[in-house]
Amino acid sequence: MKNLLVTGGCGFIGLNFIRYLFDETDFDGRIINFDALTYAANPMSLQDIATTYGDRYVFIKGDIQDRDAVASVFKTYAVDSVCHFAAESHVDRSIARPDEFIQTNIIGTYNLLQAARDQGDQLIRFHHISTDEVYGSLGAEGLFKETTSYKPNSPYSASKASSDHLVRAYNKTYGLPVTTSNCSNNYGPYQFPEKLIPLIMLNALNGQPLPIYGDGKQVRDWLYVRDHCTAIWSIMQNGNDGEVYNVGGRNEMQNINVVHLMCKALDEMADALPDGAPRDSLVIYVKDRPGHDRRYAIDCSKIERELGWAPKESFETGLAKTIHWYLDNAEWVRQVRTGDYQRWIEEHYA
Ligand code: NAD
Ligand code: DAU
Repeated sequence: MKNLLVTGGCGFIGLNFIRYLFDETDFDGRIINFDALTYAANPMSLQDIATTYGDRYVFIKGDIQDRDAVASVFKTYAVDSVCHFAAESHVDRSIARPDEFIQTNIIGTYNLLQAARDQGDQLIRFHHISTDEVYGSLGAEGLFKETTSYKPNSPYSASKASSDHLVRAYNKTYGLPVTTSNCSNNYGPYQFPEKLIPLIMLNALNGQPLPIYGDGKQVRDWLYVRDHCTAIWSIMQNGNDGEVYNVGGRNEMQNINVVHLMCKALDEMADALPDGAPRDSLVIYVKDRPGHDRRYAIDCSKIERELGWAPKESFETGLAKTIHWYLDNAEWVRQVRTGDYQRWIEEHYA
């Protein structure tokens, strides 16, 4: 892989993946980061990478909905491999306004698949990043396997399911060398504070309410983002064409317990609130998310067995690292909270 196209590389997982490849692997090629710079993107988080790696890192502001722009980047940079993160990723936004989810997650993926096909034999890997949400919701027992049938419940998960099917079809029909990973909930550095963990963290640090949807007993299977990155790279290098790999942390937790754990850790690690109250006192129960999936849990035995991958972090160690990162990166937090990161984007990429 000499010319690796990373879509959505300015988002949370994409930028962690780019940092991981440059800083911690023997990857010696070029990364072309193609990102539309939506509200969820933060190219400032890669400024040091751009400076350090020079020509080996190229950033292009572009939209995967734009078929010509996608085709052009494949040809201009002789793209031989793709890691496709770009998506609208937040379930609540998909419920309020599904349109962008259909356009980006489905049509955008289709545009990439077409351009990848046009590369012919030059294209050696198309890795598609997907989610466990395509499988729907579990009851109290059981785990999602690669063979679990698809039952998406939100516009977001339905759009991701649709993209997964297109990716599969391009392998079966045209022989495109695709792999897909379906991963559980990620957390870690640089996550946009609309998702549960960074939202709770920043609200708890600032003495603001901590909203729990419904009864708070929904279960998610949390994976530290760096462990997701190691899984992706392992699949891209050693996965078999046409295969799907489930990736998860074996860290099932109820939302309310995640929040309690975070409050306790923040009470110990951060300054006390002005009134001295424990952060747990900020919890409020709010209206539930429509169609809220009750439980996700991943069986990741296939990637463990076939590729020798395993997550390094437990929830406790990953959460401690994450809290430290947010406490140590007050300027990043300020820019995201005030919207300054968007003003920076407007100035640099008008
Ligand atoms: P994110 O919302 O943080 O980032 C998405 C990135 O994609 C942003 O930089 C955005 O600008 C870019 N983007 C959006 N629309 C685009 C378009 N039309 N053209 C080009 N770029 C566009 O998302 P994330 O949390 O980093 O998720 C990345 C991928 O991983 C997504 O495909 C998501 O479905 C999948 N995933 C996420 C999680 C999770 O817990 N966050 C878990 C499993 C799978
Ligand atoms: O499972 C993988 C998926 O995880 C990814 O595909 C998605 O891109 C990612 O956004 C995430 O989806 P979730 O909906 O599970 O994540 P979110 O952080 O939005 O919510 C986690 C849980 O916390 C969920 O049960 C809803 C609940 N929640 C969320 C928020 C933002 C709350 O109770 N309060 C909140 O304020």
